[in-house]
Amino acid sequence: MRNNAIGIFDSGYGGLTVFKSIIPQLPEYNYIYFGDNARAPYGDHSYETVYRYTLDCVEWLFAQGCSLVILACNTASAKALRSIQQHILPHKYPDHRVLGVIRPTAEVIDQYTISNKVGVLGTRGTVKSASYQLEINKLYPHIEVVQQSCPMWVPLIENNEHLNPGADYFVQTYLQRLLDKTAGIDCILLACTHYPLLIPKLKAYLPEGITLLSQGDIVANSLKDYLSRHPEIEGHLSLAAGQRFVTSGDPEVFDTLGSLFFGASIKSEALLL
Ligand code: DGL
Repeated sequence: MRNNAIGIFDSGYGGLTVFKSIIPQLPEYNYIYFGDNARAPYGDHSYETVYRYTLDCVEWLFAQGCSLVILACNTASAKALRSIQQHILPHKYPDHRVLGVIRPTAEVIDQYTISNKVGVLGTRGTVKSASYQLEINKLYPHIEVVQQSCPMWVPLIENNEHLNPGADYFVQTYLQRLLDKTAGIDCILLACTHYPLLIPKLKAYLPEGITLLSQGDIVANSLKDYLSRHPEIEGHLSLAAGQRFVTSGDPEVFDTLGSLFFGASIKSEALLL
């Protein structure tokens, strides 16, 4: 029976930049997007908190009929994915799958660097976890991974201040802190699904010859590949081509700001977790 949906999860809006890339690649499936706006941002929360919040949201998506959930959030992928995959799924949900955004990005990173020096910009949580260093070096031990956290960026973006003049200081400061750590970085990964909204500002301060890499298309390609290799999951997915948006925050605010991330208008439902 093809009646399952694909769940897309983020702490708030960021996952919409990934969802936006997934739809053109896989338009036939039924999707439920859940943003935990009421408890976002996740970037500064402890491991335990991010794990508990993420698990709540994933289990809610499972209960809505999602047999596959994508954590379209680096912070949740860094802090909660492994525990959910290892400790929750095998016992409670053996037929369900949860995938993240870090591994698929690490797998292709070598295609974007010649100098083998990659900069990673992310939340404090993602940077502290060192997940990118670990995942990239497992596959490509010769690539040097240099990280910088950008704690002011998500609040600027979530308040729609990111393209205003006041944002320039924080954009330039974090970028420069990263570049000052080592010479020769030729690829900067935006390792937070919110950050693609800052690309116009980042480009103004980016030295020539550095590629700015966001994850939407990478995750979409990886999901497409995963589904082609896993007929036991794909064969249960509904082909109803639907999109449902749910937020634990205020749906009016979500619809206004979310459409900036998604690039199209959104009509969301509220959920009290
Ligand atoms: N979008 C999330 C990420 O990719 C971070 C936002 C937050 O701090 O909640 O890491």
